[in-house]
Amino acid sequence: MKFFIDTANLDQIREAQDLGVLDGVTTNPSLMAKEGITGRNNILKHYVDICNIVDGDVSAEVIATDFEGIVKEGEQLADLHEQIVVKVPMIKEGIKAIKYFTDKGIRTNCTLVFSAGQALLAAKAGATYVSPFIGRLDDISTDGLNLIAEIRLIYDNYGFETEILAASIRHTMHVLECAKIGADVMTGPLSSIEGLLKHPLTDIGLEKFLADYKKGN
Ligand code: E4P
Repeated sequence: MKFFIDTANLDQIREAQDLGVLDGVTTNPSLMAKEGITGRNNILKHYVDICNIVDGDVSAEVIATDFEGIVKEGEQLADLHEQIVVKVPMIKEGIKAIKYFTDKGIRTNCTLVFSAGQALLAAKAGATYVSPFIGRLDDISTDGLNLIAEIRLIYDNYGFETEILAASIRHTMHVLECAKIGADVMTGPLSSIEGLLKHPLTDIGLEKFLADYKKGN
């Protein structure tokens, strides 16, 4: 399972990268705004800064919603850095654009996916990644993890190579459950990754080992 961090915060990206288990970064316009990154040039520079910190894929989202606009913006994003994956919304024009990018060898992440039907369409268009938002589904009493399982089944039935990128991860249990189902990638906050480290018996055990070592030295 690949681990992506879902943030535009450079300090958190560095911290996750230093842990040695980071495979990529996802961003979206809300996450960029949260960091105060505004204006086209600053946004483009920020994507390059992120690429220079991490080794893996960096999803950069288009703002346009019409085919020509998505293509123009996506090509500009893809030209920024070889690690950039163009993030395209799950809309009709977006699907057309994903097919266009696929034919041109530009990698894509189909975002804002909330149903298995949408995920099937994204795979048909050749998306590199599909991003089902599990946390936002859970927020409205709909089982986000079940959607991951449905997409896994459909993709395996037909051998689709589109990677399931479980997005809108809120906590460590989401990560674990997605791993059990077989999501290819998870993207979430640093806390969802660091939560995997924790177990009280590890802390108690280590304390005892160190104390016993001290007794004999
Ligand atoms: C995915 O790529 C999105 O950036 C993200 O996971 C959305 O998460 P949220 O529902 O916590 O905003």
